[in-house]
Amino acid sequence: MEYKVVVKNELETIELAQNFESEKFPNMVICLNGEMGMGKTMFTKGFADAMAIKDPVTSPTFNIIKEYPDGELPLYHIDVYRLDGNIDGLGLEEYYTKGGVVIIEWADMIKKDLPAERLEIRFKMMDDENRRVLVIKPYGRQYEDLCEAVL
Ligand SMILES: Nc1ncnc2c1ncn2[C@@H]1O[C@H](COP(=O)(O)OP(=O)(O)OP(=O)(O)O)[C@@H](O)[C@H]1O
Ligand SMILES: [Mg+2]
Repeated sequence: MEYKVVVKNELETIELAQNFESEKFPNMVICLNGEMGMGKTMFTKGFADAMAIKDPVTSPTFNIIKEYPDGELPLYHIDVYRLDGNIDGLGLEEYYTKGGVVIIEWADMIKKDLPAERLEIRFKMMDDENRRVLVIKPYGRQYEDLCEAVL
């Protein structure tokens, strides 16, 4: 099962993130893929705002993992772009079961280290600068139900 959603601008990406946030659950894992500047961090910001996280969400490129503990659930924002697929020493697996929400940018680069159950969102460019098609794929029953509820 795979869903396609067209977003016309940044605001619609944020709204989609808010809709997913409203159905969040502990240990939720969201994997974001797509080229640079597609809106992966923008999606994460929208999600974090909806969780009432006060710290501004910035790209975690330098520290790989950024933790936002003060929202409705903890948020772990991970960007694996600079890792070259090598997650040694990161303790990544621990984050999947800490009871928070995990959002991973460039998740395809660590495909074999992703949990079996997860939500995948792939951003693709369309004809105009601000329009993207989001290909959304749930893995596992919980994420299928999530998509049913949100999409
Ligand atoms: N439909 C859209 N959804 C999200 N962002 C959009 C959209 N249209 C335009 N933008 C703009 O595209 C940029 C997306 O930047 P963002 O940092 O979220 O990309 P990214 O996918 O995280 O890139 P990177 O791979 O470098 O981390 C922002 O400047 C945003 O304003
Ligand atoms: Mg980013």
